[in-house]
Order: sequence, then structure tokens, then C-alpha cells
Amino acid sequence: MSGHGTPQPLTAHRSGPLKGVAEVPGDKSISHRSLILGAMAVGETRITGLLEGQDVLDTAAAMRAFGAEVTQHGAGAWSVHGVGVGGFREPEQVIDCGNSGTSVRLIMGAMATSAMTATFTGDASLRKRPMARVTDPLSLFGTQAYGRKGGRLPMTVVGAADPVAVRYTTPMPSAQVKSAVLLAGLNAPGETVVIEREATRDHSERMLAGFGAQIHVERTSEGNVITLTGQPELRPQVVAVPRDPSSAAFPVCAALIVEGSDILVPGVSQNPTRNGLYPTLVEMGADITFENPCEEGGEPVADLRVRFSALKGIEVPPERASSMIDEYPVLAAVAAFAQGRTVMRGVKELRVKESDRIDAMARGLEACGVRIEEDEDTLIVHGMAGDVPGGATVAVHLDHRIAMSFMVLGMAAKSPVTVDDGTAISTSFPIFTRLMGDLGARFA
Ligand code: S3P
Repeated sequence: MSGHGTPQPLTAHRSGPLKGVAEVPGDKSISHRSLILGAMAVGETRITGLLEGQDVLDTAAAMRAFGAEVTQHGAGAWSVHGVGVGGFREPEQVIDCGNSGTSVRLIMGAMATSAMTATFTGDASLRKRPMARVTDPLSLFGTQAYGRKGGRLPMTVVGAADPVAVRYTTPMPSAQVKSAVLLAGLNAPGETVVIEREATRDHSERMLAGFGAQIHVERTSEGNVITLTGQPELRPQVVAVPRDPSSAAFPVCAALIVEGSDILVPGVSQNPTRNGLYPTLVEMGADITFENPCEEGGEPVADLRVRFSALKGIEVPPERASSMIDEYPVLAAVAAFAQGRTVMRGVKELRVKESDRIDAMARGLEACGVRIEEDEDTLIVHGMAGDVPGGATVAVHLDHRIAMSFMVLGMAAKSPVTVDDGTAISTSFPIFTRLMGDLGARFA
């Protein structure tokens, strides 16, 4: 839903040692995809562990608007009665994707090759974000899009009645763009090919194969060449959504900087296209052990045991950026407690997330007494070896990850840190305050 309610400030006080087990919710990317692919399969897909954050609920509502039957049976247990590839019906109302870039971009792709018109909008954050990165490749299928200046929402998309398969090289590392093209390719006859120079999260490829599509990934010197054969009949699946490594990042990082902490975060996805934060933290000196590695829902998972650690700043390899793109805000918060500089280069994609995350982190860290340097593509945090002043109110700009990152920082800073709107957190991690409170966080 677009627009948030009244902003509610939330304050993190310096907290005692964190102890216990943190069961974080289901993976957001996989939750969106299980609803969308479930809606494009013929028959009933059953999902457990679905993230019930607002972003995913907005995707569920959109799939209903396109004709799928989407039902909640219990906590995290959902079913989707799909209408088949090419079976969407034209929605009667505007599709409101709230705060969620993944919802709007993937759903635009999914409807782009059906003869129907749909209008999309979102909240003040989503209405600022660029959509041409998706509508440009969709136009190659024959799709038309009419939006506000700069390719912004609200936007009306007219699906191609006679789509043609495309070959497209993504100009920026983006799983949303790749996925939009693949989902559009489902209803185009022939082979749609997406080439990505840098690997991005591969949940769409894994799940398309799981739903019975013919999809083939070749690793070449050009990058990953992904070939999808159009017009398959997708078979409904039983999907067990693993826990989200991007949500796990918050209790993990909090435990690293709050003295005396020792926590367990079980069943976290360790998909190599998603888990770049964890080797980065280990390189910084973090005491994390990866226990009981196994496979769940087609994804590698592990239990993470995390203990308070003295961290040192590092240069994060830029080629790791895609595999940890959503984790830079919390890494920047943790870097403030390390000894020495943490250098994050090759991160300009952060400027077009739910907020300009380089700017939001830079301003918030400065307000908390931390020295930073930034340019268009870089953020450098000068660590204070555990002595972070805090004592500021930080603007989160409708961005859940900015809000949670500063709540983590406030748990170990000398003076309390307030975020101006804690309601943003519910888009991806609705149980955040309760879960962190159970570990020993002092929030008010
Ligand atoms: C996502 C891809 C990433 C990520 C977002 C979720 C996805 O965005 O930041 O939170 O589920 O495909 P980009 O594709 O724009 O990098």
C-alpha cells in the first residue's frame, strides 16, 4: 500500500549482552518470487516460511488483482492457485506496490507479454525510483510504458499482444532487471536470453527451474548467459522459504558490537549470490561459525553462531558488492565500531534503493559522531574502536534498512540513537523490535 501511517520514532539504548536464539523471518526475494511464480503455474503452489512483511503482502495483493487465488492458512503458510503463463486477467484497479521495488519491477515483467494494461504506483520512496531500467528491456518484447518524467511511477504498462523473444545484456548489476526480463520471456515464443556481466542473486533462475521451465545458465568470459525457453507450462511447487540473510544481518551485526554477546541465528540462507556480508565480517575479525550446513527449499542454509568481537576495518572487494548490496548500511554501522577505516567501493547502486543509502548512512553516521568520506560510488567509514558517541536523531527516508542499521548502532553507542520513523521496518522485518528485545536490546 502506498503511503505510510504516522511516523513513529524509535530509540535504541546501549544494551546488555545479547543472548539467545534469533529466528529471523523468511527470505524477502524468495517470498516475492514464490507468489509470482505460483500465480503463473497451473494449479496450487504451497508455501511455508513466507515473509509476512508489507512488501510481500503487496505482491500477494497484486497477484490476486491479476487473477490468482492467494490464501493464508497460518503463520507463514500460504497457497497460490495459479492461472498459468499467459493466464493473467487485466486488473480493475491501480496496482499499489507500496515501498517495494521488487514487487513493481518483477510484476511489470510478469504482465509485460500479455495483452492487457495495468497501472502501477507506490509510496513516496518508490515513486522516486527509476523504472526505465525495467521498461527499456521490456520495450524490446513490444511492451509500452507511460510514466512520469524520468520513468517514475505512477506508470501505465501496455503488455505486448504479440511478444517476441529478446536477447538483453543488463547495463547494471540488478537481479530485479534480470528477473523482469526472464518473467516477460515466459510468455514470449522462442528463447529469451539475459546476459549479466556480474552475477546477481539467482533465486529467479533456481525457482524457474524448480517450477519446470527450461532455463540454462552458462558462465562465459562475457558473464552469465541465461537462456529461457518461452511458453512452458509451469508446474505448481511446494516451496519452503529459507530465513533471510539480509534480515539475519541485523542480529548478527548487533551481537558483534554489543560486548559479551553470544547468539545463534538458525537456518539462514547461504546462497553464494547473497551471503557476501558474512565473509566480509569474518575478514574484519568477526567470530562467526557456520554450523549444520544443509539444503532447504533448493538453497544452502546454515546456523550462525555469533559472538562479540573486536573488529578491524578492511577494504571490501568491489566485486563482492552484488552479493551483499542490501547489507552495506548495517556494515557501515558496524564499521563505526571497528579499528581503522572500512572502504566500500563500487556501491553506486545504493543511491537508487529505498533511499539514497550512501547519503542516508553518511548523514546519520556524521550525526552520531563518526567520520566518513563519500563520493558517487564509495563510502568510507573511519572506525572508532568501540567508542561511538551516538546521541542523535537520524532520518530514515522511508527506508527499513537505514532504520534497522541505526537501531543496531544505538545498541552499542555511548548515548541513545533515535530513528525518526520506526514504522518503515515492517516492510521487511515486522518482528524486528520483538526479536531484538528478546535477545536483550533496549528499544523504546
Ligand atoms: C532484489 C534485488 C536487489 C535488492 C532488492 C531485492 C531482488 O535489487 O536490492 O532488495 O529480490 O531481486 P536490484 O536488483 O535493484 O539490485
